[in-house]
Amino acid sequence: MENFEPEIVAFCCHYCAYTAADMAGSKRISYPPNVKIIRVPCTGKVDAIHIMKALEKGADGVYVAGCLEGDCHFKNGNTRAGYRVEHVQKYLEELGWETERVAMMNMSAGMGEFFARTALEFTQKIKQLGPSPIKRINIDKSQKAVG
Ligand code: FES
Repeated sequence: MENFEPEIVAFCCHYCAYTAADMAGSKRISYPPNVKIIRVPCTGKVDAIHIMKALEKGADGVYVAGCLEGDCHFKNGNTRAGYRVEHVQKYLEELGWETERVAMMNMSAGMGEFFARTALEFTQKIKQLGPSPIKRINIDKSQKAVG
């Protein structure tokens, strides 16, 4: 799996992580193109089903990036998102998946470098884990069909 390039979905809060990603771009700080950003008005809008759907549709890793603790513009959306991520991690554990495929991150709008660094670190982590179990099943099926 040397050539494996993971597909990562990042649900980013409009007020912080999305702006941080924008700042990284304007400062010409690059981050892996593997990370596909979905802008949300607040991470409190990200439900467990959204994370599971992203994994079902082929994401190898998903993270939710919200405002710093106590800075959510909608009071506690980021805290609720953190609980949901933990809930999904427990569910993945029951399924036998690596729980590290899902993560919660917190940052402010001014943390462009941090956004880029965490995007890189998360991508590297997922690269080490390899394709998601759903992809592995599909790879096995296609290899059996050919062989
Ligand atoms: Fe950013 Fe709620 S407004 S996480």
